[in-house]
Amino acid sequence: MKMGLGSMRFRAFKWAIWFIVMATWIGPVRLTSTSSSQTLPKHSFDNYSVALNKAMLFFNAQKSGKLPKSNGIPWRGNSGLLDGSILKDVNGGLVGGYYDSGENTKFHFPLAFSMTMLSWSLLEYPHKYHAVNEYNHVRELIKWGTDYLLLTFDSDASKITKIYSQVGGAYENSKSPDDFSCWERPEDMDYPRPVQTAYAGPELAGEMAAALASTSIVFNDNLTYSNKLIKSAEALFAFARDPQKRRPYSRGNPWIEPYYNSTGYFDEYLWGATWLFFGTGNLKYLTLATNKGITKNAMTLKWTKKAGVLSWDNKVPSALMLLTRLRLFYAPGYPYEATLAEHHKLISLSMCSYLKPYHLFNWTQGGLIHLNDGGSQPLQYAANAAFLANLFADYLNASESAGWTCGPNFFTVKTLREFASSQIDYILGKNPLRLSYVVGYGDKYPTHVHHRAASIPSDGKKYSCKSGYKWRDSTKPNPNTIEGAMVGGPDQFDRFHNDRRNRGSAAPTLAGNAGLVAALVSLTNSGGYGIDKNLLFSKIPPPSVTY
Ligand SMILES: *[C@@H]1O[C@H](CO)[C@@H](O)[C@H](O)[C@H]1NC(C)=O
Ligand SMILES: *[C@@H]1O[C@H](CO)[C@@H](O)[C@H](O)[C@H]1NC(C)=O
Ligand SMILES: *[C@@H]1O[C@H](CO)[C@@H](O)[C@H](O)[C@H]1NC(C)=O
Ligand SMILES: *[C@@H]1O[C@H](CO)[C@@H](O)[C@H](O)[C@H]1NC(C)=O
Ligand SMILES: *[C@@H]1O[C@H](CO)[C@@H](O)[C@H](O)[C@H]1NC(C)=O
Repeated sequence: MKMGLGSMRFRAFKWAIWFIVMATWIGPVRLTSTSSSQTLPKHSFDNYSVALNKAMLFFNAQKSGKLPKSNGIPWRGNSGLLDGSILKDVNGGLVGGYYDSGENTKFHFPLAFSMTMLSWSLLEYPHKYHAVNEYNHVRELIKWGTDYLLLTFDSDASKITKIYSQVGGAYENSKSPDDFSCWERPEDMDYPRPVQTAYAGPELAGEMAAALASTSIVFNDNLTYSNKLIKSAEALFAFARDPQKRRPYSRGNPWIEPYYNSTGYFDEYLWGATWLFFGTGNLKYLTLATNKGITKNAMTLKWTKKAGVLSWDNKVPSALMLLTRLRLFYAPGYPYEATLAEHHKLISLSMCSYLKPYHLFNWTQGGLIHLNDGGSQPLQYAANAAFLANLFADYLNASESAGWTCGPNFFTVKTLREFASSQIDYILGKNPLRLSYVVGYGDKYPTHVHHRAASIPSDGKKYSCKSGYKWRDSTKPNPNTIEGAMVGGPDQFDRFHNDRRNRGSAAPTLAGNAGLVAALVSLTNSGGYGIDKNLLFSKIPPPSVTY
């Protein structure tokens, strides 16, 4: 049965009831395999590639360490050159990587997630990155991240005993000078840069394993590097799985817990195992990724909202998506098929949950989905969902499915694409304020971005810890335009606080921009529609014929 969204609105209540039923009992979801002639969204796709060029530049602005000659950000220079130098055991210290947001802190957990997202988007859409002339750029950005991640543990040892999990930051409520109590450009930092060490941390190690396994496929053309990445990913995953080390990396650490608290690690087990299977072709990882116990602990045996809200803290949806890709295009069969079929049903339900009439999530009047229950920084969740939805549409189309079903209703892939473009269009300015939330894109965008380097002029003068605050508190726009930065976003009423003091609305993050980049490359029509079916599977053996 095909239904328009309009007619559905009246029956939203009924569908919500149905959804609750579906959430406790997942019925069969049958994909109709008819070829479709779909109409594409009317949006000019060129806008997505323009925004993509900008969104990627944000990563250049966040670089720490000794910058390459042409980094493209005139107001940024070398910084953090002594990071990690107090440590005896890391070669070259912990110089490099990316600052997370408007502070000058390197948070390795979301950093690794951001690299995994960039790699994933590249492995799906290499032709599009080529077409928008960003292929080498995205690889360079990923390598900047992986080169750094390789410094954060002993990547030559066969067994990892600890991981450096953060550089800089602040001890909550501390009065001493640090990244939060000072307002200084990274180039001028003159306060201590403490390093956090994780002797346990399945989510940190699991995410880093995902990052390095995915990039090992990206750098297929350099076997030395690729092998180093995959070997390290396996060692990290062994650390993550060590029964003695299953304590969250952030718990009880006041430098981390208030900022990037991890609320569980089974999602990283699922996600890490999935990427390790893609990176090695070793079936033991597929066995783990389809293990009922892990799936259950990651809360995916029945559908919950968690199965739809991708973020740096929740990789359940992205893992389900990739395992569904495997089912659709590779079909490993017995004994994996039963669990993969469950994963497929769950991610299909997550796609249903994005549809407005079901009202599983709140929406602003202006049309933004609020996946984090009215919390701050809604755009990063919306961008991730847009990426997943358009990717799922591409998976369906590539497997010659016209759409998917939500209970009794059949929806075409066009519904998914419309959801994805509606969210990204909102971010790019199709909202009640006519404001683009991506700096430097469109005529009107945030001018008071919460960002130390962007808010302090690069005028050769050094502002001290406290004297820098005059720049945070200035009513004038930032002197440096931080091109491509997607800020936290509006509130539940489509209002934006263009206020440098407001982190939740006016600060960009690495993870947020990584999701935005992924969504934009997925949506642009530059380089043609659809995914590259094979690149992501290039390290796994051809599927067996009998299953
Ligand atoms: C492969 O990567 C390594 C590590 O980054 C680099 O030193 C080396 O020059 C690369 N080799 C080639 C052929 O690009
Ligand atoms: C971090 O997450 C854990 C697990 O969900 C929770 O118990 C803890 O209170 C959280 N910490 C903070 C500061 O939110
Ligand atoms: C929507 O927002 C309201 C008010 O903040 C909240 O009570 C409600 O639980 C939210 N609904 C959903 C579906 O998230
Ligand atoms: C988006 O595309 C339309 C149509 O090509 C164009 O008129 C508009 O200026 C573009 N917007 C931006 C912000 O580039
Ligand atoms: C759908 O797939 C067909 C080939 O199977 C391709 O020609 C077409 O461009 C795809 N459409 C989209 C929107 O991806």
